[in-house]
Amino acid sequence: MILVTGGAGYIGSHAVKELLRSGYEVVVLDDLSSGHREFVLTPHFIQGDIRDRGLLEKVFRAFPISAVMHFAALTSVPESVADPASYYAVNFGGTWNVLEAMRAHGVKLFVFSSSAAVYGDPKKIPIPEDHPTQPKSPYGRTKRMVEELLADYAQAYGIRYVSLRYFNAAGSDPEGTIGEWHEPERHLIPIVLEVALGKRPYLEVFGTDYETPDGTGVRDYIHVTDLAWAHVLALKHLEGGGESRVYNLGIGRGYSVREVVEVCRRVTGREIPLREAPRRPGDPAILVADPSRAMRELGWKPKFTDLEPIVETAWRWLRKKYA
Ligand code: UFG
Repeated sequence: MILVTGGAGYIGSHAVKELLRSGYEVVVLDDLSSGHREFVLTPHFIQGDIRDRGLLEKVFRAFPISAVMHFAALTSVPESVADPASYYAVNFGGTWNVLEAMRAHGVKLFVFSSSAAVYGDPKKIPIPEDHPTQPKSPYGRTKRMVEELLADYAQAYGIRYVSLRYFNAAGSDPEGTIGEWHEPERHLIPIVLEVALGKRPYLEVFGTDYETPDGTGVRDYIHVTDLAWAHVLALKHLEGGGESRVYNLGIGRGYSVREVVEVCRRVTGREIPLREAPRRPGDPAILVADPSRAMRELGWKPKFTDLEPIVETAWRWLRKKYA
């Protein structure tokens, strides 16, 4: 059985769906602080916090866990700048608790949700995994610290792990049962689509003076189902005896904020008013993945290689959510 922490969240719930589709049994641990009960697709669900060591002990005793996929985390770069204490407690302390419970129960396989935020301002584009890591935010630092913890635990205790450095997860399950739903919403594509729906008056463009072709931030948007599938491949890699690895997950193509808005205009056919706003603290100008290692070693290949169909799935989900 696979323990999925954060399995009621955006990426975690999509990963649970792919695991179930591949025939795995899954138990979800989630405190529902940002996840949704209706996103839990397995009958085995424990509500609770990864900072609670006693609870983790109970979970590992109650279920025959063979591997952990660890999504539970706080995920906002600007919030981490304003409130680093919570980020270190949950993202670092909580992860350490999970690893300690694994160690106590002899569970050796771990798939970790890392982030492109570990890189900071890239020195070259696209970014390969051996690029230096100089995170610009506490959020990115917590992810890098966990990667260091994992390397030490792997060396000393025989834990094997795959750390997946996500670029920008986007879109929603094409079947429409689960999707992107954060409260408050901070991510670009759902915000732009809420403007298109008339739920917000305009999009604030955070920074128009970056050194990018149109001055706005450039990101690599990867469809959440492609991202979720990479987790199953990472697990199979570890189950097959594969060594600990770090992989970038993106499509290898960047879109600026203005380009994202253009695609959203095309998909929705609606007006999207913009307002220029200052840069957001902690934001790098450009993040584009070199995902070739995951493609080569895991046999991963994104089905969505263009932003327009990604936005279409996001748009379908959002209209359903507000229907
Ligand atoms: N943006 C706007 N207006 C908004 C929201 C976002 O202009 O209202 C811009 C951002 O400045 C950025 C781009 O749109 O240039 C994408 O922003 P998101 O908030 O959607 O995503 P981020 O790139 O900030 O964050 C993502 C993940 C984080 C991860 C980070 C790596 O959500 O978990 O990439 O930097 F840490």
